[in-house]
Amino acid sequence: MKNQVLQKFAELYGGEGDIRTYFAPGRVNLIGEHTDYNGGHVFPCALTMGTYGAARKREDRTLRFYSMNFERAGVITTSLDDLVYREDAGWTNYPKGVFWAFGEKGNPVPSGMDVVIYGDIPAGSGLSSSASLEVLMGVMLRDMFGFEVSQVEIALIGQFSENNFNGMNCGIMDQFASAMGKKDHAIFLNTADLSYEYASVKLDHARIVIANSNVKHSLVGSEYNVRRRQCESALKQLQAVTDIQALGELDIPGFEEHKDAISDPVERNRAKHAVYENQRTLKAVQALKDNDIAAFGKLMNESHVSLRDDYEVSCQEMDILAEEAWKLPGVLGSRMTGGGFGGCTVSIVENDSVDAFIEKVGAAYEKRTGIKADFYVVDIGQGAGVL
Ligand code: GLA
Repeated sequence: MKNQVLQKFAELYGGEGDIRTYFAPGRVNLIGEHTDYNGGHVFPCALTMGTYGAARKREDRTLRFYSMNFERAGVITTSLDDLVYREDAGWTNYPKGVFWAFGEKGNPVPSGMDVVIYGDIPAGSGLSSSASLEVLMGVMLRDMFGFEVSQVEIALIGQFSENNFNGMNCGIMDQFASAMGKKDHAIFLNTADLSYEYASVKLDHARIVIANSNVKHSLVGSEYNVRRRQCESALKQLQAVTDIQALGELDIPGFEEHKDAISDPVERNRAKHAVYENQRTLKAVQALKDNDIAAFGKLMNESHVSLRDDYEVSCQEMDILAEEAWKLPGVLGSRMTGGGFGGCTVSIVENDSVDAFIEKVGAAYEKRTGIKADFYVVDIGQGAGVL
């Protein structure tokens, strides 16, 4: 990949001078979904799939971007003096947002750049191709201009740009996983204070298998922001009866005691998911530490049911992928992963059942939906950096 990007760079912009290369991974979340903007815990890991980039400084203030994933868009030219969101700027709104966010955070980028990027995360799969692009730009700008920002700050800048430049009110999980990933480990992150620890996910007898539904419903952005508002409203009502700053501070008895303060049943269900999912995540990480993968898998299944019924961010296609997985021997757990409304499921499958899993879930999914799913047996990779 690195060589392909460098070759394209030379072809488009010339191969001379100080051309540097970078990589930032996508992520898969094992458990802890829609908890990251509720002060709860998440448990994602970085993938070995991600976004590669090559860049060279320019003397002027021009920015040239080219994506090998959107070749038809060609080289998109803009300037450091035009860092505003534009519909017709397409994918370049993500890198532009990061340039803008660096400036907002006190690190204005002093000169233009030529950039080529290439990602191997399937588009629209919910495996955080956009967060990986943001984090890629963050490590690129830090390295090229010597900004003093940490990996965590790069994640926060990426989130800030996505929230305030691209209008998607995401939490910190995706950018954090891309920036802070560690090979063969998942990140147990408390989004209330960004404290984290790495947990080894060296599964001897099982693999992580991602199933891509290959659907992405248009609800994804708008409904995400609706969920956030519903959680905020539920929190406000709970705050009238109990002293909390975030839904993640409640345990299950605490929620059950106070839940009637939330008048709207839909909002009550949203809050229920946020609280229960956070508690499930705590239990799941403990189960993993105890090497009880069966318990971990069961919690994954419960997570899916809660996302489907209480949080209502699943969709028929992902429900089918999960249901078909649950039927099979050798499947320890399976759930939708990411924001929802399409994208992928993540499953833990025993080594000798992986082939059957792909064949059977794939066939049943195609039969029931008419759509072909894709499967990736993944490894957990390292966070973003210079190549
Ligand atoms: C998207 C967001 C994350 C997180 C997940 C749901 O991936 O970008 O911040 O909220 O959805 O867990």
